[in-house]
Formats: sequence, C-alpha cells, structure tokens
Amino acid sequence: MKKKVTKIGVLTSGGDAPGMNAGIRAVVRTGLYNGLEVFGIVRGYTGMVEDDIYKMESRSVANIIQRGGTILKTSRCKEFFTPEGRKKAYDNLTKHGINGLVIIGGDGSFRGAQTFSNEYDIPCVGLPGTIDKDIAGTDFTIGFDTAVNTAVEAIDKIRDTADAHDRLFIIEVMGRDAGYIALHSGIATGAENVLIPERKTDIEEIIKQLAEKERRHKLVNLIVVAEGDEFGGADEIAKIIKARLPAQDVRVCILGHIQRGGSPTCFDRLIASRMGYSAVECLMEGKFNVFVGMVNNRMHYTPLNEAVKKKQRISEEWMKIVKILAS
Ligand code: F6P
Repeated sequence: MKKKVTKIGVLTSGGDAPGMNAGIRAVVRTGLYNGLEVFGIVRGYTGMVEDDIYKMESRSVANIIQRGGTILKTSRCKEFFTPEGRKKAYDNLTKHGINGLVIIGGDGSFRGAQTFSNEYDIPCVGLPGTIDKDIAGTDFTIGFDTAVNTAVEAIDKIRDTADAHDRLFIIEVMGRDAGYIALHSGIATGAENVLIPERKTDIEEIIKQLAEKERRHKLVNLIVVAEGDEFGGADEIAKIIKARLPAQDVRVCILGHIQRGGSPTCFDRLIASRMGYSAVECLMEGKFNVFVGMVNNRMHYTPLNEAVKKKQRISEEWMKIVKILAS
C-alpha cells in the first residue's frame, strides 16, 4: 500500500527555462485545490540540503505565469550528488513533513531525483524543464519553444544585415550536448548548414559547398552551430573558414543566454500548466517516480530510471531537410 501524499515540495533545478514559473504555479494551485500543503524549495536541491524551504499559498504564485526565469531560483547542486548531501536533504524534508516532490528540470535534475527516490521513501515526479529539449519520453520540454523563437527572431535580424553586406554569418546557439535549438531554428530561418553535437561535422564538405556558392555569387550564407559542436562553436568554425576561403566576409554572432530568458510563449505556458497539474495528480494517485511528458499532445509518463538512460534522437529526415532546402 503506497503512502498517501499530503505535503508536497516543488523545486526548479539546473538551467532555468521560460515557463518554469507557469509550472510552479500549476503545481501550487493544483496541490492547494486538492487540499495538499505545498512548499517551495529555493535554489533547487541546494534548498533541500540547506533547508531553504517555505510554505506557499495561492498568492505566492500570483502574477508569475508570464515571467521568465524561476521565482524559486535554481542551481546545480554538487552536494546533493553525495550520499551525505541527500541525507541532509531527506532530514530537512522530513522536518517539514514533506512526503512528495515535484522536480522541474532537465536530465541532470532527473538523475538526482531518481537516486534520491531509490534511497528514500519520498516519491518524486519530474517535469521536463530545459531549453535543450534533449529528454526522451516527451515531444517538448518546457522552455524550448520560447528559446527557439528567441533564436529565430535573432537570426532573422542577422539575415537582414548579412544580406545587405553579402556576408557569411556563423551563429552560435545554446546546446552543450543537444542540437535541437540549432536544428529547429536553422530550418525555420533557412540556414545553409546546421552543426550539432549529435552529428559529425564535415568541415571539408561545408567548405566545398561555400566555395561552390562563391562561384555562383551566392554570398549570403547562414550557418547555425550549437555551442557543443565538436569544432568548439562559432569562433572556431569561423577561423577555419576564413583561413580556407579568404574571399568570404565572415562574421560571428553568439546568441548565448538571451535564449534562456524572456516571457514564455503561449505553448510553453500551456504545456507547463498541463504538466504541473498532471504531476500533482500523479502524486495523489500513487504514480510515483515518473516524469510527466507530452507525446502526440497527450500526457505521457516515463519512469525516472528509464528517462535518465535515454536521450531524444535527432531525426535524420530533419537533417536532410536542412540540406535540400538550402541548396
Ligand atoms: O541546459 C541548458 C543550457 O542552456 C545548455 O544549452 C547550455 O550549454 C547550458 O545550459 C549553459 O549553462 P550555464 O548557464 O551554466 O552556462
């Protein structure tokens, strides 16, 4: 017989993502609606380890649905990845009587939740909150849509100036281990090439294509590169291209952390609200140690221990689309 969850804690962990606030709001209000007590845990697992925990009311989440960042703050907590850190976290949760947790974060945060729930009798439910969209078991993660739209808006602006000067722009987007922002924004802005960590970058092929375009006097080219590409990002790629094709007027633009901020799109607010609502239902119904994703627009539940083993796979077809449409 599973223990009844009566007091839940909610936290955001890892890199922040637009829509996390909408997720927190949904968890708090669904919890209160169902008669649960809800606690906010500040700075992710750090707040669990250091007992930075406070009781939340409906008003605690007023006026946040449209805000980027996270009102609970976030961190990447090294101490929680030690048995001593997790013991401290458990003692602090027990002190407040918290017997269920909602973790909003990426795969690293899910790994922490999985280890913790294996060791201690506090059920965890995850919400995928990361701009990287690199979690298997969900079509979308909270924050991805906003981040990719920010990137598209920026790249469109770059295209204007690239066109005015006949320049080659190499635009670096976020994604240390994941190429989704690069791939989606690259297709949506008509980039000539998209370079991502999940695929080998054939620099010789890129140079060949650019040289061919030079011959055809097609000088406006956009290359979108994820920061985690094997060549080390936009600056490195630019160096190589400049050395090999001196006639190209090359510029670099690194979009950086602007992709993590800003007001969430409607889509991110919606999925965060639906997932947050669903996470509380999971805890009440005894569907423990899963994360709530969305597949084909329906809620989808993946055990945390499976989620940490898999990555979402980049579609070959999408890579082909980049090539064909940019020719
Ligand atoms: O996990 C999201 C992410 O934005 C990655 O794409 C990026 O590499 C990383 O976080 C950057 O993290 P930080 O803010 O710690 O530099």
